[in-house]
Amino acid sequence: MARIGVLTGGGDCPGLNAVIRAIVRRGLADDHSFVGFRYGWAGVQADEAIELTMQSTAGILPRGGTILGTSRTNPYADGADGTALVRDALARREVDALIPIGGEDTLGVGLRLHRDGIPIVGVPKTIDNDLGGTDVTFGFQTAVQIVTDAIDRLHTTAESHNRVMVVEVMGRHAGWIATHAGIAGGADAILVPERPFDIEEVVAHLRRRHARGRSFSIVVVAEGATPRTGSLQTREGTATDAFGHARLGGVGILLEGEIERRTGFETRVTILGHVQRGGTPVAYDRVLATRFGVAALDAVAAGRHGVMVGLHATEIVEVALEDALREPKLLDPQLYETAELFFG
Ligand code: F6P
Repeated sequence: MARIGVLTGGGDCPGLNAVIRAIVRRGLADDHSFVGFRYGWAGVQADEAIELTMQSTAGILPRGGTILGTSRTNPYADGADGTALVRDALARREVDALIPIGGEDTLGVGLRLHRDGIPIVGVPKTIDNDLGGTDVTFGFQTAVQIVTDAIDRLHTTAESHNRVMVVEVMGRHAGWIATHAGIAGGADAILVPERPFDIEEVVAHLRRRHARGRSFSIVVVAEGATPRTGSLQTREGTATDAFGHARLGGVGILLEGEIERRTGFETRVTILGHVQRGGTPVAYDRVLATRFGVAALDAVAAGRHGVMVGLHATEIVEVALEDALREPKLLDPQLYETAELFFG
């Protein structure tokens, strides 16, 4: 019987509650008990936590967000001794092991704690799908579905007005959401961070399309996409979080202006923003999150620490946290080439 801590860190993501529920339900069967820290590492720091029980986790499977709350707090920020801080907090609550559910930052803290001897098992979370060690992260399919639905809707209004529609999507420095949703939604151009774009090539492509009789175009742009030549300024570098990440966004607005100015085609931008992270997870993400939660509990219960659960093909696996975090998982070039076939 162990007492296990759980927290959710970083941006929220559809499926977080499904993971929490799965950990608790799987663990209660073997008489483990659970402390849920509020707002990621902030709740550990402030000793703000709730008891996770059958009752407190009932009915949360389809609910978006996280019942624990989340934040981008970094316990090591400003030279703090994050390890001592977390160790004390866990001792106070008599917690034997901790399951952080998060992306590279939250799990990066987990890796440091593991190296300092604190028992950690990580669960990968991000709509961006850019974590190593797993083929897919939960939340990604939900985000792709939301973007695809938006593109479908933008198609009819684009066609009615003979407009170019620029759709800016999340994904940070990876083009997974843009490319998957772009393929699913039949985008006419997809701009991703992995392939810096040339604005002249983009507008030439749109001009060619329209010269061939097309009256509208859909351009999907990932928030982290950058111009090849550096001729267009993006907003990157304005604000940063506790892990030093710049707040992205705004490239769509620049493209709207540049495309309209250079082609004369009426252009509008839609920035989907946090809509992509909100609301109920699709069935795929609920299943993946549930499988991750069960596997994380099993790893903790068996004393296998310093690992992250992941999906390899159809199998749930455990990978060393340090391997998973070595480098981000960027877009598969072959997938992008498939998308390009349909740019028309
Ligand atoms: O990592 C998930 C994500 O949604 C990114 O796609 C996006 O760049 C970032 O988080 C936004 O963060 P915030 O919610 O702090 O604005």
